[in-house]
Amino acid sequence: MKIGVAYYPEHWPEDRWPTDARMMKEMGIDVVRVGEFAWSRLEPRRDQYDMLWLERAIQILAGEGLEVILGTPTAEPPPWLFDRHPQIVPVDEDGRRWFPGSRRDACLNNTAYRRYVRRIVREVARVFGPNRDVVAWQIDNEIGCHPAGRCYCDDCEQAFREWLKMRYGTIERLNKLWGTAFWSQDFADWQFVPAPRRTPAGVHPSLALDYQRFITATAREFIQEQRELIEQYCPTEPTITTNALAFWTDQLNQFSIAGALDVAAFDNYPIAGPNPDGAAIGLDLTRSLKRAPFWVLEQQAGPTAIPCSHSRPRPGELRLWTYQAAARGADLIAYFRWRTAPAGQEMHWYGILDPDAQPSAYFEELKATFAELKEHAPLWQGRLPKADVALVLDYDSHWALRANSMTAELDLRAQFTTLHGLLRRMGITADILTPEQSPAGYAAAIVPMPMIVRDQAARQWQSYVEGGGRLLVTAPAGYRTEQNAWVATRPPAALSGLLGVQVAAHDVFNGDEGPSIAMDGTEFPVKGFCCLLELMGAEAVGAYGEGSHAAIPAVTRAAAGQGSAWFLGAVSTDALYGHVLERVLAEAGLRRSPWSSDTIEVIPLQAGQAQPPRTFVLNHGGAAVMLPLAEGETRTDALTGRRHTSAVVLAAYGVALLDK
Ligand code: GAL
Repeated sequence: MKIGVAYYPEHWPEDRWPTDARMMKEMGIDVVRVGEFAWSRLEPRRDQYDMLWLERAIQILAGEGLEVILGTPTAEPPPWLFDRHPQIVPVDEDGRRWFPGSRRDACLNNTAYRRYVRRIVREVARVFGPNRDVVAWQIDNEIGCHPAGRCYCDDCEQAFREWLKMRYGTIERLNKLWGTAFWSQDFADWQFVPAPRRTPAGVHPSLALDYQRFITATAREFIQEQRELIEQYCPTEPTITTNALAFWTDQLNQFSIAGALDVAAFDNYPIAGPNPDGAAIGLDLTRSLKRAPFWVLEQQAGPTAIPCSHSRPRPGELRLWTYQAAARGADLIAYFRWRTAPAGQEMHWYGILDPDAQPSAYFEELKATFAELKEHAPLWQGRLPKADVALVLDYDSHWALRANSMTAELDLRAQFTTLHGLLRRMGITADILTPEQSPAGYAAAIVPMPMIVRDQAARQWQSYVEGGGRLLVTAPAGYRTEQNAWVATRPPAALSGLLGVQVAAHDVFNGDEGPSIAMDGTEFPVKGFCCLLELMGAEAVGAYGEGSHAAIPAVTRAAAGQGSAWFLGAVSTDALYGHVLERVLAEAGLRRSPWSSDTIEVIPLQAGQAQPPRTFVLNHGGAAVMLPLAEGETRTDALTGRRHTSAVVLAAYGVALLDK
């Protein structure tokens, strides 16, 4: 377990650096992340590089035994570059160019920007690649963040056409697969394919989906190019990553991005909430990208100016959030930031030191947290959470629906978040999988709203179920092709056989107009969308109540081999999702933790032959709790050695690592 911090030596006079380095060391920090916004200092004028100050800063840090993660400074070019090439600034969907003077305001497809990116990255890599104090590299910063991350400029449009050429080969093939005969959109040549800018009656859904894929492809290629430059100058293989936003934004397919990285990394701001679910989903996704321990490159160190309903972190919360990240698989946690910025847009994102260089109100809590974390980390190191459920995140289906939907209620990301939160509140950890990854080995697999179902995924889920897996799929499923057009057969198309149903039709509703669903003696409301299912081998376990859809199956279960495949054919409330989950998980032999709740987080760890069972229990509430034990049962907290009988007592914002 390593502890790190973001440091911006360029914000303070050089004679302050040794004090900062010494204080960091004394505080228990191991790694310092520098450089990611320093382009205007590293290349103050075109072709005039000044790397010496950063070399001196790194030397001072290394003199205290601190390691360095070096960021490439490409998230914000210097003003002279905007002056020279004003067209590097991205364009929005209305064709309006943003203005520079912030960050992330350069288009990744702009040829001039890319030329200068190559030059600065090459120079930074040439100088620092051989530097042994630089232990890892962060490419850029939060790629895909901010609205300008979606650019519609002419360079993007041209790059999009090139990308489409690679994907489709001929324009005729694209026309056919997109279905461009609709509204006279057949393209006679690649040069007529537009970026999906604002139009009077919406954008063609195939174009919209492919553009979203293209944005990910652009980001990945941007990372890959920097990666290759860095590798050229490092005598030994460097560790290369980037600080992703994970689930904060759905702009990029993070699985694809992670393919260009050595270790997955995430910026974790639990204050954005809701606690603990907001952070849990980002941490689970980041762990799942490589199914391995990961890094948190920015962990909240105090109050921030992020819009949220949470007040200042309460005493104990920063410690609690650190444990949450460690419990969910982080093995390097770097805080943001060492000292509050003396000026600029982020003056109110507070650091470990206040703007006046005094330790912040959280300094002692953080220092104690670092010490105990390092002391105790061997108790859980090498053990990821024991994830019993595979939760499938299909970016393509999400984007397909966003590009064209039957009703605004169909929000894959929102339903995914709900399902993840429900599982979390049951104390059941989920790994997040792509539809291409097999859920074999997980007791249950959940696939929310797979609009696009590829044959490979359908086959794999079929054999998963036949081998004893429990699968839950939610509607809408199997409507669209890879190109976001209608499938040739009735939904859920490739999943019909496995789920044992066909969708005869679907219906949409405003507000509370929808029917109810009767299941196991309870009525649950439909929210906005429901499928009318025909049974083709499945049994109905829930049906619509009174009204024109009365008695039509709404929730079904089909047995196959050793397992079962469930279909939830409507959008509903948490209550129905929770109920269906309980039934599916019960079949899978999974039980909710009796302690887990909105504020109690329970995370069992993987156990092996030489590894006794261990479970993290975290109290996100502001009051102490007593978690009851059965008669005669005792549990020992490995962090304190305390033995609990009759109940586990957890202080407000407290943490325990229990045996079992
Ligand atoms: C992150 C970003 C940092 C800083 C921080 C503020 O999203 O990477 O540069 O802006 O938020 O909390």
